[in-house]
Amino acid sequence: MARILILGARGQLGTSLARRLAEHSPTALDRDELDVGDPQAVDRQLGRIRPEIVLNAAAFNDVDGAETRIDEAFRGNAVAPWLLARASRACGALFVHFSTDYVFRGDRRAPYGEDDAPAPLGVYGASKLAGERLVAAANPVHMLIRTAAVFGRAARPPKRRSFIDTMVALAGSRPLRVVDDQRVSPTWAEDLAAKTVELALRWRVSQSADLLGLFHVTNSGSCTWYELAREALRRSGIDAAIEPITTAAYGARAPRPAYSVLAHRRLERLGLDDLPPWQEAVGAYLRGERGREDGLG
Ligand SMILES: NC(=O)c1ccc[n+]([C@@H]2O[C@H](COP(=O)([O-])OP(=O)(O)OC[C@H]3O[C@@H](n4cnc5c(N)ncnc54)[C@H](OP(=O)(O)O)[C@@H]3O)[C@@H](O)[C@H]2O)c1
Repeated sequence: MARILILGARGQLGTSLARRLAEHSPTALDRDELDVGDPQAVDRQLGRIRPEIVLNAAAFNDVDGAETRIDEAFRGNAVAPWLLARASRACGALFVHFSTDYVFRGDRRAPYGEDDAPAPLGVYGASKLAGERLVAAANPVHMLIRTAAVFGRAARPPKRRSFIDTMVALAGSRPLRVVDDQRVSPTWAEDLAAKTVELALRWRVSQSADLLGLFHVTNSGSCTWYELAREALRRSGIDAAIEPITTAAYGARAPRPAYSVLAHRRLERLGLDDLPPWQEAVGAYLRGERGREDGLG
């Protein structure tokens, strides 16, 4: 059994990580138990728990809100991971942190690899990129996992539903208008958690530096938000009108990359399996499955 600490444990990803690691009886904390932006509280909790592995799924994820709440975005996405990475290093722990496809500008049409230069368009992406750099500086024993368009069911109902649940809930009650000129790689929290746990537990056994650093992990394939919504409705058996619109017509406050598909070059180089196609992941999510590969479903 490994001594594991999970932060943001009742969010979409944190919930899946906690369930998948249940046999290790992880300490799973969310905002009520530990505000990860509070330096004294972070040092106190990590000093008490003395984890071997820290998984940080806490983040400030309001992409549009970040444009005006810049201090909060950088506190949650840059300062907090730095505090956690530093405290993890003091315990000799592996620090696993998550970042985003929104660190990329999105002005090309080929998947971004881990070596490609980030250039975020908005505050959210900038704060997550700052977090990546601060984590790398604070604790050499880290994994930085960039992911994208995450859907999952949080243990504590989140303030915002997943995109898929929102589409399914709204369909029929009003005409759906969904952006069709942003291409992403949707990611089921369960598949992301499974790959994260595989990487972290492999590192625990091998302590190999090959398993550290930056990884891109999403479901395989890509689609626009419109295509994702259409697939979710089709698999739910809902026959509702849905209209593709442009980013400009939608008029969100924050700029977003038009193309942010991630290439999984590190996973490939390590000879690890890629994640299933996003369409399969959407189906499993809608059927209420809880995970694959290890009988958790
Ligand atoms: N969701 C996406 O589409 C997406 C895309 C790319 C990357 N990511 C990254 O993937 C990771 C997991 O995202 P997710 O979708 O699972 O997020 P989520 O569902 O929003 O969960 C985040 C959790 O962290 C908590 N939290 C926020 N600030 C905190 C603080 N200061 N102290 C303690 N807890 C705090 C949140 O609590 P409250 O609800 O009270 O705030 C929430 O329970 C994050 O690093 C995120 O940036 C997500």
